[in-house]
Amino acid sequence: MLQAALPMTHHWLPFTANRSFHKDPRVMVKADGMVFTTNTGQQVLDGVSSLWCVAAGHNRKPINEAIKKQLDTLDYATAFQIGNDQAFMAAQRIAQLAPGDLNRVLFCNSGSEAADTAMKLALAYHRARGEGHRTVFIGRERAYHGVGFGGMSVGGIPANRKVFGAAMMSRVDHLRMPHDAAQHAYINGVEPVYGEDFLAELEQRILPLHDASNIAAIMVEPVQGSAGWYVPPQGYLKRLRALCDKHGILLVFDEVITGFGRMGTNFGADYYGVVPDMLNFAKAVTNGVIPLGGVICRDFLYDALMNANAPEHAIEFLHGYTYSGHPVACAAAIATLDLFAEEKLFERAAQMGKLLGDAMHAGLKGLPNVVGIRCLGLAGAVELAPIAGSPGKRAFDIFRDCFAHGILVRSAGDNLVLCPPYIVTAAQIEQLVGTLADSIKRYA
Ligand SMILES: Cc1ncc(COP(=O)(O)O)c(C=O)c1O
Repeated sequence: MLQAALPMTHHWLPFTANRSFHKDPRVMVKADGMVFTTNTGQQVLDGVSSLWCVAAGHNRKPINEAIKKQLDTLDYATAFQIGNDQAFMAAQRIAQLAPGDLNRVLFCNSGSEAADTAMKLALAYHRARGEGHRTVFIGRERAYHGVGFGGMSVGGIPANRKVFGAAMMSRVDHLRMPHDAAQHAYINGVEPVYGEDFLAELEQRILPLHDASNIAAIMVEPVQGSAGWYVPPQGYLKRLRALCDKHGILLVFDEVITGFGRMGTNFGADYYGVVPDMLNFAKAVTNGVIPLGGVICRDFLYDALMNANAPEHAIEFLHGYTYSGHPVACAAAIATLDLFAEEKLFERAAQMGKLLGDAMHAGLKGLPNVVGIRCLGLAGAVELAPIAGSPGKRAFDIFRDCFAHGILVRSAGDNLVLCPPYIVTAAQIEQLVGTLADSIKRYA
């Protein structure tokens, strides 16, 4: 349907500059493989897996067929006090992919719900074992854990705190973002080694301030995705794991972006060789085709809540969503995981990640306003110097210009991010980087 005929008044677009959008709409009507078609007939290459979701590319028939079949078999069944076969099978498949004894899956529908689920489980776990005073959560500056009040509170997005801060949870604190723009502006496939110890403040300031015995959990993204692909220094997550163990603090990895192959491994946890106590996922688990999220937790969390002293009819964890483990979403997840395995897509992500990193460094370094490029796994961000007084505007303008020239990129502050589907070809990487380079030059 063409723009003129589209009823555009009523849909308030999420996380979108609505006034700008209405002057210059970008409306998709079709997608196949790596390419969208817009309502004006334009072809647009998906350089961001539609926000880290469509890892296997668009319009994958095995996933579509699984959804159609499931709709005709069991469309829906309530999730409370009743199970469905697809949810059990999807949970098993997801747990098998996860490292260590991350064996129990609590389903939800999104990354935001996963953050809140993990936080509630942390509180319930500590309470169940007589440590109900552990109620403080630690996150990181500029971390994104979605839009719920739990995730926003432990998250560290300044704009969220500006508008919603007064209503956020009070017992939270934040680590600094481990980023050293002076020494490590350019990262290409290798974990940076920093002189500075970014976790010293945890041991020396944050834990003593709150008293470590009051801290429920620390939640981090292995690589900070939404902020603009900020990569932790070598050894950082292992040391964080050791500090959590030392002080009885739960470690939660938010792998909504890094999960399911983005790093070339099953999860970011595998890439970094660290097993968290809980692992949040969403997005790519269904190839983005249908909403599904969840938290995978270690056996001891489940065991602690299955209290043998409570009556057997008691609900052990008072949490869940109407659509937790929706059979259609779970059928889509099983088909997606099959496709990942059949086409060896995580290995492909690792290979194409190297090409992307090299292409971004060769094609973008030295261009006007480029102050950093960070690539790891199949993702990379190019950081631009902000326009004085208008942070984010340069990247936003370039995002729009890139769209007009046939590629979808993501602007995050003054970063532009590329994170294509794992099926991306070398020629498509060249197209993405070349188009982005031309646009950066146009907006110099
Ligand atoms: C790390 C992380 N956590 C949570 C979320 C929120 O996920 P959702 O938008 O599905 O609620 C996102 C979204 O990008 C994310 O990147």
